[in-house]
Amino acid sequence: MCGITGYIGDEKAFPVIFDSLKKLEYRGYDSWGIAVKDCNGLQIHKQTGKISRYNFDDSKLKQSESCSGIGHSRWATHGKVCETNAHPHMDCDGKIAVVHNGIIENFQELKKELAHHNFISETDSEIIPHLIEDLMKSGLSFEDALKQATKKIKGRYAIVALSTDSDKMIAVRNGSPLIVGVKKNGDKKSFFVSSDIPAFLDHTRNVMYLDDNEMVIVGDDATFYNIDSGDEIFKRLITIDWDASQAHKGEYTHYMLKEIMEQKETIRRAINQDEDKIKDIAEEINNAYGTFLTACGTAGKVCLAGEYIFSKIAGKHINYVVSSEFPNYKHFLTDKTLMLTVSQSGETADVLEAIKVAKERNVKIISLVNVMGSSIYRQSDHNFLVNAGPEKAVASTKSTTSQLALITMLAYACAGKLVEGKRLLVETASKVNDMLNPRYEDRIKKLAENICDQDHIYIIGRGVNYSMALESAIKIMEVSYIHAHGFAGGEMKHGPIALIDKGTPCIALVANDEVKADVISNAMEIKSRGGYIIGVAPENNPVFDYWIRVPDVGIASPIVNIIPVQMLAYYLAVLRGCDPDYPRNLAKAVTVL
Ligand code: M6R
Repeated sequence: MCGITGYIGDEKAFPVIFDSLKKLEYRGYDSWGIAVKDCNGLQIHKQTGKISRYNFDDSKLKQSESCSGIGHSRWATHGKVCETNAHPHMDCDGKIAVVHNGIIENFQELKKELAHHNFISETDSEIIPHLIEDLMKSGLSFEDALKQATKKIKGRYAIVALSTDSDKMIAVRNGSPLIVGVKKNGDKKSFFVSSDIPAFLDHTRNVMYLDDNEMVIVGDDATFYNIDSGDEIFKRLITIDWDASQAHKGEYTHYMLKEIMEQKETIRRAINQDEDKIKDIAEEINNAYGTFLTACGTAGKVCLAGEYIFSKIAGKHINYVVSSEFPNYKHFLTDKTLMLTVSQSGETADVLEAIKVAKERNVKIISLVNVMGSSIYRQSDHNFLVNAGPEKAVASTKSTTSQLALITMLAYACAGKLVEGKRLLVETASKVNDMLNPRYEDRIKKLAENICDQDHIYIIGRGVNYSMALESAIKIMEVSYIHAHGFAGGEMKHGPIALIDKGTPCIALVANDEVKADVISNAMEIKSRGGYIIGVAPENNPVFDYWIRVPDVGIASPIVNIIPVQMLAYYLAVLRGCDPDYPRNLAKAVTVL
């Protein structure tokens, strides 16, 4: 939530930061702002709305020769969306500029202490430059003032700051992500500090990660310190294997459609793992005394599918608990418990909190993440990268099916049937490749045209596809704003069936499995009350008013069943004039609790 970025180097800072913010737009898109530092001091440009809709040439800063600056794209938490509340925020004298991602929990207390300052915004973040200002006025250097300021603030944060009294850019991290990108040009180096790698992927793939309670001082070089001890920390330069083109839209109008289409390859990449590692982790799962799957949102629905998959394939009882509720399960945790977390971003605050609680009980953490070096990746005892490549659209699509594939593979490994599992998933990947063709897309587009004026869509599934009914609802709601609700097929008759009226669309997710007949019966019950039945199934059935064919892939059915719904959600959004990449009120990485 919120994207922050900073640059110091040879190039003009404003265009570099402007471009970086466009890449970070998925993290927040209420408003944006940039500060650059030149011989006249700090120059600021702020704007409400999306940066991608703004014409670079309209900015008064476009001519600035400055080679250092910071930027922010906002997802409002404290204070309405307006230019004043947009970052960067400044001190009273306009000499310190700060961008902040996170929440300062004790900002009201601090604001009282700083009552002699001139606050102009409603944000918690504006506390930071004023705190630094006081500390610098008491004689501290810019570096020490920021360090001391972090001791006063409580909460999760990533901060990047500039001061006219220093030629350095300083960044600190506690709970919110920060990565330093390093670009070498002969003996000279340029530095990028950002919430996420795609912000600077056009410039460099060489990165260093900040951990919590660390500070980096960037100038001709980047020096890292532990904030508490003041000790300098050596950081390894890591080359990441994402390339810049993966993070661009290419021929597609939206990232969401591009990422749906990438599932032709991403499933195969997800299962391309070190087999010894898979077997080792499977053994850990088999030996654990209680294993929990935990995640949020879509990743959580993958975990729910995992519950069924582990039970069916490996006869293992694994509990899924949504991460925001996980702390309430702490009484069940011992040092023999195992936690499997799933997260695209690797930065979801609720998951990090669940990990913290688990670690206090010495629980071993295994994570499935998409972003290498992310907080969850680094806080885990073992991690797997799902290898989906950068996912920019807020709605998870390709990362979902990659996570499903990897969970399925782990379940097969637990049953000692890794080869069989891999064979099934390779076959599934190849069937997805065949499925994602233009004719298929047209059929889904036509369905979207039929139902885009509806106010409600219901989705039913049973067994492993119950989870995908819930996921389908998330997908449709978040991008098209149509109210959608997923149910276990058997639950309809216990209340929700009262919602069915003439023509109400209801999607039935069907697989050739032991619950097929039951879910078809549930679809019939809905049809009898006037419902319009959309069957996502390997075979047609008389109950379906509209049939979307999916391949028959056994227990891997969640992978193939969710893809047409992702595409349907995309076309519903487009037909209703919504931006599927940047749905209102949402952000890609949810870094607040
Ligand atoms: O990055 P994560 O996978 O941890 O994110 C978890 C959820 O915030 C995420 O899946 C969210 O539900 C998506 N927007 C759904 O498409």
